[in-house]
Amino acid sequence: MKILVLGSGAREHAIVKALVRTGTSRANILVAPGNAGIAKDAVCDPSLNMLEPAEVTAYALAGGFELVIVGPEAPLIAGVADPLRAAGIAVFGPSKPAAQLEGSKSFAKEVMAAAGVPTGMAHECATIEEVERAIDQFGAPYVVKADGLAAGKGVIVTSDRAAALEHAEKFIHQGVLVEEFLDGQEVSLFFLSDGKTVMPLTPAQDFKRALNHDQGPNTGGMGSYSPLNWLPEGFVAEVQSTVAEPTIRELDRLGAPFVGLLYCGLIVTARGIRVIEFNARFGDPETQVVLRRLNSSLEALLHKSATGHLDSIIEPEFSDHVAVAVVLASEGYPDTSAPDRAIHGIEEAEAIEDVEVCVAAAREQAGELYANGGRVLSVVAIAKTFHHARKLAYKAIESISLEGSHYRTDIAKKVDDHE
Ligand code: AMP
Ligand code: GLY
Repeated sequence: MKILVLGSGAREHAIVKALVRTGTSRANILVAPGNAGIAKDAVCDPSLNMLEPAEVTAYALAGGFELVIVGPEAPLIAGVADPLRAAGIAVFGPSKPAAQLEGSKSFAKEVMAAAGVPTGMAHECATIEEVERAIDQFGAPYVVKADGLAAGKGVIVTSDRAAALEHAEKFIHQGVLVEEFLDGQEVSLFFLSDGKTVMPLTPAQDFKRALNHDQGPNTGGMGSYSPLNWLPEGFVAEVQSTVAEPTIRELDRLGAPFVGLLYCGLIVTARGIRVIEFNARFGDPETQVVLRRLNSSLEALLHKSATGHLDSIIEPEFSDHVAVAVVLASEGYPDTSAPDRAIHGIEEAEAIEDVEVCVAAAREQAGELYANGGRVLSVVAIAKTFHHARKLAYKAIESISLEGSHYRTDIAKKVDDHE
């Protein structure tokens, strides 16, 4: 089957690697726009503007693609899935209205309220005075969220009232949500959905803060691991029945069936599971560890989801090995951007057995890769134990050099300590 993957990050690189690992021929995959790192694994076409639905549709028709996998949220929210689907092409990724589950936090809250899905209490605010009232009602720590997309930078969790208000000022033009603080472990759980039926993948944990010990600002994600052996028995089934299924049913009822990946961002509180966010696509860097453990055909799973046939497929199988991903970020990330700089040592890192490098932001010049973004790559290692997987991942990342770059050294450390 000819497959077009839209996107240019480490997540899309992980999707390509997982497709190939689970049986898809490399020759059948094209990534647009892709990046210089992904281009080592599949043909990339940087000329396509994935944010132009009509252009993408014409491109997919002309290229004879039978399945389009949409990686990031921006093209989904721009409505890329709709004309593709109307043209008869199978698309793994929700329609423009269904993608509002990620595109608008207030829409997500309305869906959850209607579907009875457990989530934090929140106030929608249109003025700073409303924000002040709401944060004083909930008390510290304060949680303030931009209503629309903000590339992982729209949320602040702080006990500093002035900082909370300053953050609200920045986003108040698009609307702000003030939410009660939820205390507990975070879990990312992905569900495939064909609009009616959902199927869980395997839980992962993301490390959102920039620095060790969960210090520093929120980022797009600095590392991840899977599985989460500390979760209570029945956790996945509970999230399926109390979160994923009612949400998918409610979207279907609203006439916006959700076909694609439902990303449930959860906090396990003392009072039970709460949703902190939905995304309408695979998470990054969780995808790197979740798909690294997948043994079943990714192509079949995504195609069955895209064509409404999830109920005809058996549940995906995951390796009982564990996976750890560590993100290498450019100097200054997430606050400022660094100039493009040469990356060395990716081949040495990939030469380590059971290590793979997913490239997020790189261009090629005269045979050399140059980092051209905040999160540059993820190193992904798989092993029998977290202890071993961490050793491999950190050995690999140490062999890569990029001036000024940084990474967290405590990814999956707690689970390693408890092994
Ligand atoms: P979001 O973009 O909504 O996932 O928020 C980004 C990060 O902020 C989450 O991964 C959490 O670490 C944190 N966060 C969001 N909402 C809350 C909340 N209500 N209570 C505590 N932490 C939160
Ligand atoms: N890792 C968080 C996200 O993909 O949104």
